[in-house]
Amino acid sequence: MSHTPIKFAYWVPNVSGGLLISKIEQRTRWDIDYNRKLAQIAEQNGFEYALSQIRFTAGYGAEYQHEPLAFTHALLAATEKLRIIAAILPGPWHPVVAAKQIATIDQLTGGRIAVNIVSGWFKSEFTAIGEPWLEHDERYRRSEEFIRALKGIWTQDDFSFLGDFYRFHNYTLKPKPLQQPRPEIFQGGSSRAARDMASRVSDWYFTNGNTLEGIKAQVDDIRAKAEGEGHAVKIGVNAFVIARDTEAEARAVLDEIIDKADPDAVNAFGREVRQAGKASPEGEGNWAKSTFEDLVQYNDGFKTNLIGTPEQIAERIVALKAAGVDLVLTGFLHFQEEVEYFGQRVIPLVRALESQHADPVAA
Ligand SMILES: Cc1cc2nc3c(=O)[nH]c(=O)nc-3n(C[C@H](O)[C@H](O)[C@H](O)COP(=O)(O)O)c2cc1C
Repeated sequence: MSHTPIKFAYWVPNVSGGLLISKIEQRTRWDIDYNRKLAQIAEQNGFEYALSQIRFTAGYGAEYQHEPLAFTHALLAATEKLRIIAAILPGPWHPVVAAKQIATIDQLTGGRIAVNIVSGWFKSEFTAIGEPWLEHDERYRRSEEFIRALKGIWTQDDFSFLGDFYRFHNYTLKPKPLQQPRPEIFQGGSSRAARDMASRVSDWYFTNGNTLEGIKAQVDDIRAKAEGEGHAVKIGVNAFVIARDTEAEARAVLDEIIDKADPDAVNAFGREVRQAGKASPEGEGNWAKSTFEDLVQYNDGFKTNLIGTPEQIAERIVALKAAGVDLVLTGFLHFQEEVEYFGQRVIPLVRALESQHADPVAA
C-alpha cells in the first residue's frame, strides 16, 4: 500500500439543495457565507481539497447554482491552505478563456487552484443555453483537446495547436499560473472514453461512488492503460458519508433520506443521465447501472458505503486505499457539522490504520 496518506476532498455546495434529491431536512446552504465558513472548517480539519460544481440550469432540483470559478476565487480568498478544484465545461468555456481566468486566480490566491474538466451529460442544459450537443465519445475527444490546450498554454511560449475543436497559433499567455509547472487537472467520468482520456492526459480521474470491487476494477484498468502510455494518473472516488456514533443511527439517516426522496425529481434526473455512460458505445460508465436509490445522491455516493461508525468508515477508506485510491471525495447531509465530525473522528483513525499498514512490525 502507498506510503502517501490518502487525501480528502469535499463537494462545495455552490448549488442549492445539497447533494441529495430528497426532502429530508438539510442544514447545508449554498450561499457564500455558509461556504466560506465551511472551507475554513475543512482546512482546519484535515481536508486538502474542495470541488466546486458547474451547472447552468437543472430541471431535477438544484434550482440555484453559483458559477464555480468566481465562487472558487472567493473561497480561496477566505482560506489559507485549502486547494480548490473548479469545474470547467468544454463547450461553454473555450480553453484560452479558462487558462487565462485560472492563471489570474492562481496568481491572486497563492497558487491553490485546480480544475475539474467535466464532459457533459445534461443535454437539456446544453439545449437551454444554445450549445451544440456532441455525442458521447466526441465530448471526450473535445475534452482531451481542451486539456492538451490548457497544458500547452500554461507551460509553453509561442504555443501552437491544430485540433479538430481548438486552434492556437504562437500564443503566449502572460502571466502564466503561479503554480509550477501548472495547476493540477482533474476529470470526471468513468466510461471507456473517460478512462482512456485519463490514461493519456489527466493528472486525476474522478469517478462516481461504487463498491470496492467496482472501484478496484477501474483502478486496475486505468493504471494498466496509463502505464502503456507512460503516464501517471491518480484516482479520486465519490462517497456520501454518514458517520454517526452508532451504525444504527447512520443507517436510520440513510433510510430517512431515501424515504423522503422526491420521486419526480429523481426520475427526471434518471432520464437526463442516460446521456452519460449509457450513451457510450459500450453502454458503461457513470449512472449506467444506477437504481432509484443510487440516484437520490447525485454521484452514486451511497454505493461506496462510508455509512456507519467512525471505525467502520476508517476501515473502508483504508481498503479503498489498498485498492489504489488516492483521494476520497466526500459529501454530507449537514456539511459544516459533519465535515468537522469527520475531521475529528474519522481522519485520525485513518491515519492510525495507515501507519499500522506501513509498518507491520509496529502493529
Ligand atoms: C466527481 C465528479 C464531479 C463532476 N462534476 C460535474 C459538474 O460539476 N458538472 C457537470 O456537468 N458534470 C460533472 N460531472 C460529470 C462528468 O463530467 C461526466 O459527464 C459524467 O460523469 C459522465 O461520464 P461518463 O459517461 O464518462 O461515465 C462530474 C463527475 C464526477 C465523477
